[in-house]
Amino acid sequence: MDLKPGLVVGNIVDKKTFYITTPIYYVNDIPHIGHSYTTIAADALARYKRMRDYDVFFLTGTDEHGQKIEKAAQLNNENPIELADRMVERFKNLWQVLDISNDDFIRTTESRHVKQVQDAFVKMYEKGDIYLGEYEGWYCTPCESFWTSAQLSLDNCPECGRSVEKIKEKNYFFRLSKYQDLLIEYFEKYPDFVKPESRRNELHRRIVDGIDDISVSRAAVEWGVHVPMDNKHTIYVWVDALFNYITALGLEDSEKRKKYWPANIHIIGKEILWFHGVIWPAMLMSLGIETPYQIFAHGWWTLEGKKISKSLGNAIDPVEITEAYGVDTYRYFLLREVPFGLDGNFSYEAMVNRINCDLGNDLGNLLHRTLTMIEKYCEGIVPEHEGSLSAEGNELIERSKKLNNEVDYAMGNLQFSKALESIWDYIGLVNKYVEISKPWILAKESSTRNKLSEVLYNLVESIRIISLFILPFLPNVAAEMH
Ligand code: ME8
Ligand code: MG
Repeated sequence: MDLKPGLVVGNIVDKKTFYITTPIYYVNDIPHIGHSYTTIAADALARYKRMRDYDVFFLTGTDEHGQKIEKAAQLNNENPIELADRMVERFKNLWQVLDISNDDFIRTTESRHVKQVQDAFVKMYEKGDIYLGEYEGWYCTPCESFWTSAQLSLDNCPECGRSVEKIKEKNYFFRLSKYQDLLIEYFEKYPDFVKPESRRNELHRRIVDGIDDISVSRAAVEWGVHVPMDNKHTIYVWVDALFNYITALGLEDSEKRKKYWPANIHIIGKEILWFHGVIWPAMLMSLGIETPYQIFAHGWWTLEGKKISKSLGNAIDPVEITEAYGVDTYRYFLLREVPFGLDGNFSYEAMVNRINCDLGNDLGNLLHRTLTMIEKYCEGIVPEHEGSLSAEGNELIERSKKLNNEVDYAMGNLQFSKALESIWDYIGLVNKYVEISKPWILAKESSTRNKLSEVLYNLVESIRIISLFILPFLPNVAAEMH
């Protein structure tokens, strides 16, 4: 018998797949809090789905071409690839430090990627969706974005506020306008395609208002994937970059591609939603490739009200933060502090408060007092308990079932802070259970030894449940609890 991978004999289940991605980050500078945020969120969801028995493919990587990298390398007196080789190690190292469980890491300078981007470009050209034209307008290098005069804000980039340069060059255009109706139809048929809803509505409105064809090559940029039929041009870095989500899986007939595409979710920051929510699906439509199920655009971390960004010079190195405060605490803080989707202001004070309250007082105390009591009253051996549970014991069990549903719903909607809130409500309940049951009094009389065993048993069982729920967020703490 010929079995597909993932098919288990005896208990025939074909595992559901879950393909999740982060943006691929620019290598012009070292990673900061913002990059770690998206990657930690994606990691928590990937770990959660694996625990729920999904066959997960979790991809991250680096965006290494384009004018921005070319310029940064020039400033450093090195070749772009030398800069990229150096910086990519910083990203890889950070993901290791933060316990990121990605299954692959793609660099856009890899040949597996370049070749497929060129093929896709030729296919869109042959279909008539790419044509040679002339571009006259503005370009923001930090954002790698084209802007019209009308879009500029006080003569600067409307996205990042920095200065733009005027460009006039022959380049290739993609017929984005041709996909307007199809995109509108798609957005209306799949209201969950872009999340959160407010961002989806804004994007939908922009498409309805009208979309123009876009430039998809640069004649003035050397550092990029060359346009196969016209070697003077390089492919616009955003076109190059978006394809990573597919090129990482391999060619159309590869096992991975068949298994994981379309992606279940692309997690991104809100500033790059236009590329992911409009240009990406339109190019896929042009190629006759299925579009991803969902794009989730989260908010920004700010520092004193300003977006944290390497090019704004207010970036904080996550490696330093974790050295001072710990990896799990940092992961916890980022996902607990701000509802995913909204902006948040980073401060050490807020982080320290969170750590002290939630991790120290609530979780830490529960673990500490339970272990101490087992040590003291039961010589370090978790007591057996058989027989019926008391009312409070039953309540704990009922509440853990409810917790399961709440966490599953929250994770399904990328509400990481809600999931954590529910878990911490449960931790609060277990702490209350200790107060109510007063094991230190039960330990005094031999007539209440049986009751003491029940309480300690229930506590250990609750901690086991907690350790499972926190694993996607706090992988190290969870491992220590087992
Ligand atoms: O845009 N708050 O790369 P990039 C929250 N290469 N998230 C932030 C953030 C902040 N202050 N700053 C950055 C690019 N991020 C392209 C992507 S994808 C095909 C190509 C996160 O290095 C957030 O996920 O500028 C944002 O979208 C991403 O880093 C941008 O990283
Ligand atoms: Mg950026």
